[in-house]
Amino acid sequence: MRSNSTNILVILCFLLTLPVFGQQKVMMAVQPKEDAPTISRHIYGHFAEHLGRCIYDGFYVGEDSKIPNKAGVRMDIVEALRDLKIPNLRWPGGCFADTYHWKDGIGPKEDRPSILNIWWGNVREDNSFGTHEFLNMCELLETEPYLSANVGSGTPQELADWIKYTNHPAGSSPMPELREKNGRTEPWKVTYWGIGNEAWGCGGNMTPEYYSDIYRRYATFTTNWNNSDGLVRIASGASSSDYNWTEVLMKNIPKNLIEAIALHHYSVIDWGAKGPAKNFSEEQYFTIMERALRMEELIQKHTAIMDKYDKDKRVALYVDEWGGWYEVEPGTNPGFLYQQNTMRDAMIAGATLNIFNNHADRVKMANLAQAVNVLQAVILTEEEKMLLTPTYHVMRMYNVHHDATLIPIEFDSPEYTFNDQSLPAVSASASMDADGKVHFSLVNIDAKKTQMIELDVTALNLKSVSGEVLASAKLQDHNTFDNPNKVQPKAFKGAKLANGKLQLELPPFSVIVLEATK
Ligand code: AHR
Repeated sequence: MRSNSTNILVILCFLLTLPVFGQQKVMMAVQPKEDAPTISRHIYGHFAEHLGRCIYDGFYVGEDSKIPNKAGVRMDIVEALRDLKIPNLRWPGGCFADTYHWKDGIGPKEDRPSILNIWWGNVREDNSFGTHEFLNMCELLETEPYLSANVGSGTPQELADWIKYTNHPAGSSPMPELREKNGRTEPWKVTYWGIGNEAWGCGGNMTPEYYSDIYRRYATFTTNWNNSDGLVRIASGASSSDYNWTEVLMKNIPKNLIEAIALHHYSVIDWGAKGPAKNFSEEQYFTIMERALRMEELIQKHTAIMDKYDKDKRVALYVDEWGGWYEVEPGTNPGFLYQQNTMRDAMIAGATLNIFNNHADRVKMANLAQAVNVLQAVILTEEEKMLLTPTYHVMRMYNVHHDATLIPIEFDSPEYTFNDQSLPAVSASASMDADGKVHFSLVNIDAKKTQMIELDVTALNLKSVSGEVLASAKLQDHNTFDNPNKVQPKAFKGAKLANGKLQLELPPFSVIVLEATK
């Protein structure tokens, strides 16, 4: 039998969960853990391919441009990405990488040969943006380069030479001598090396068995016996739910030859009918969010396979291509993948980054596709004009999680229901940075409903809270060159902290990031 006081407690607990103004509260509780992983800042990485207007007429406008630039690189883009604290940049592809011969892109520009960019619009690639231009640009951006090497149509020798050219000390062998001759004495010291891209498709249409053999061969010539150079070699990974790909690679590649395995997952309605980037329906929004939230299951299942072969988690999972993919903007080159970016993209970004944060024990890098003017870009340009997309704002709001310690949050999400289907409406992640500040990032993807959130933060002993919100009147809202600040974050003053509880309202399709101090 229950005592009277127990009964009162049960009734009180019940009352607490009752709808507030017709709406159930979302009860969350933080569960700090001693052995919680660090959220690698590299989860917030980017990707720049020789595709459409990402490099040429994007990052790189050439030294003679009237747009302010340093060695041809647009300085407004550099400043915006520095504000984002961009941790790494993957280059030169993508599919382009497996057609790229890096030696075409060094030396005097007038002597560099042209090639045809067969994957992206069959345009002439004049190789005026090559290894020096990219690695010097990374220095300007204060970011780490991630070079994606050509396995599909290249050779192990080409890859080995590229590593020596970029990394070995001046004068130590012919490749660093060539680098010096081309104007750069000090090596750039590139840590991240992709061994091919999408080897199952544009990277060579290989089987996982064949690719794992090829991988072993290429990886052998990247470094010395024990990889004392500390290179991170990234195997070309699975497409979405191709679990067999991960299984075969994890089984066949010896652990001393691999530091990371990739995964690519795009949020696309249907490859034959992708739907518009701006004027989409709620049904299309719902489907895209379903695709985006699949990332949770994909990471869980690929991780489970990796755990079987690598229980100590030595090999990291790098989601080195992700984002929303729609039809190109009307009137633009279909091969250039130029699309606008709306509040829907902010929802993809917020929810996906929460998933990555919460899997920080295995996911150590991710690269949004792509940085400028391509797919889910953070920056769009039109001649001298530049705008920051809603996705940019989410990435900037979330950069407080870089290298912070994950604080797991437990809760049951309410459902976002459309027609007869439903998705979890709310996603969240939290971390504590080196100064002891705690950050919460919360996303509500529901197109109509506000969510009432109550976070039990007793365990953290917090004293004050402030925040920022990204919200807008319509899901389709986006920034344009005439109205570049239509969607932008605002200060959020609606969070109340009292008696170990943090309470707030999360508007429909919004992202809120809170900072709390002890
Ligand atoms: O990001 C565009 C393309 O998508 C990349 O080149 C390729 O890797 C993927 O299929």
